Amino acid sequence: MDSSEPPPFLSAFLSRYHTPSNLRPHVTLTFAQSVDAKIAGQNGKQLILSGKESMVMTHWMRTMHDAIMIGIGTAFNDDPQLNTRHLPPRPPNPAQNGHDKPYHLPRPVILDTHLRFSPTSKLLKNYQQGSGRRPWVFCSSDAPDVKRKQDALEQAGARIIQISGVEDGHLSLPAVLKSLHDMGIRSLMVEGGARVIRSFFSASTSSRLVDSIIVTVAPTFVGDDGVGYSYDSALEGHNSGFKHAFTQVIGRDSVVGLVPVE
Ligand SMILES: NC(=O)c1ccc[n+]([C@@H]2O[C@H](COP(=O)([O-])OP(=O)(O)OC[C@H]3O[C@@H](n4cnc5c(N)ncnc54)[C@H](OP(=O)(O)O)[C@@H]3O)[C@@H](O)[C@H]2O)c1
Repeated sequence: MDSSEPPPFLSAFLSRYHTPSNLRPHVTLTFAQSVDAKIAGQNGKQLILSGKESMVMTHWMRTMHDAIMIGIGTAFNDDPQLNTRHLPPRPPNPAQNGHDKPYHLPRPVILDTHLRFSPTSKLLKNYQQGSGRRPWVFCSSDAPDVKRKQDALEQAGARIIQISGVEDGHLSLPAVLKSLHDMGIRSLMVEGGARVIRSFFSASTSSRLVDSIIVTVAPTFVGDDGVGYSYDSALEGHNSGFKHAFTQVIGRDSVVGLVPVE
C-alpha cells in the first residue's frame, strides 16, 4: 500500500457512508482490539495492538474527520496526542515558499463529566506549543467545583463546554453531539476507550448515533485480565443493528468496517 495517500478503501468507505445530518456530526466509531476482544491490558495498561500499517491507516482516518473524541479514562491512562505523526512528510509546496502543507488535524474532544482533565496533559502542551489544536472538554454543569476547575483548564488553553443533560451518571451523548454540531463539527471519530465505546453501542439501541464502525483486529490474545468494551445485551447476537461492509487485511491486522442496518 502507498503510504503517501489515504488507503483508497478507507476514502471510498467514509465518503460512501457519510451521512449529513442537521442534528449531529457523522460519527465513526473506531478502535483496535485483540482477537479476544480486549482493547487494553490488565488495569487498563495501554497496549499497542495495531501494527505499523494499520496505525498509519488510523492516522489517515484522523485527517478525514473534523474532530476526534476520547473519554477522560483514556486521557488519564494514555495521555494521548491524537495527532497524525505516523504519516509520511508531505512533499514541499512551491505555493507556500517550499514549506510542507500540514495535514488536517482533528479537534480533540474529551468527555469529562467531573472536569478532571489535567492542565499538564500532552494535548494542552501541544496546543500551547503550536503543534496541536485547542482541546474541547465537555463536562457536566453540575460538576463539583466546576468554576475553579474551568478557570484552571482555560488558563492552560482548553475550551470547556458545560452540558446539562446527564444520563446514568454520564454526559448525554445526544446533547454532546448536538452541541458539537452547533459548533461546526460535521464529522467525528470516536476512538474510545472502553466505557465510551460501550455508551455509543448502548445509545445505538434506542436512536442512531453511530454511522460507521471501523475495528482493527490484531492477531494477538490479551487474556481475561485485559479491558474489553462489552456491549448491551440488547445488541447481542444478530441484533447488533450493524452489518458487515468490508474486511481489509493491512499488514498483519484485519480491518473490519460495519454500517447500520437500514
Ligand atoms: N485499543 C484502542 O483502540 C483504545 C482506544 C482508546 C482507549 N483505549 C483504552 O481504553 C482504556 C480507557 O477506557 P475507560 O473505559 O477507562 O475510559 P474512557 O472510555 O476513555 O472514559 C470513560 C469516562 O469518560 C467519561 N464520560 C463522560 N460521558 C460519558 C459517556 N456518555 N459515556 C462514557 N463515558 C463518559 C466518564 O467519566 P466520569 O467517570 O468522570 O463520569 C467515564 O468514566 C485505556 O486503558 C485505554 O488504553 C484503547
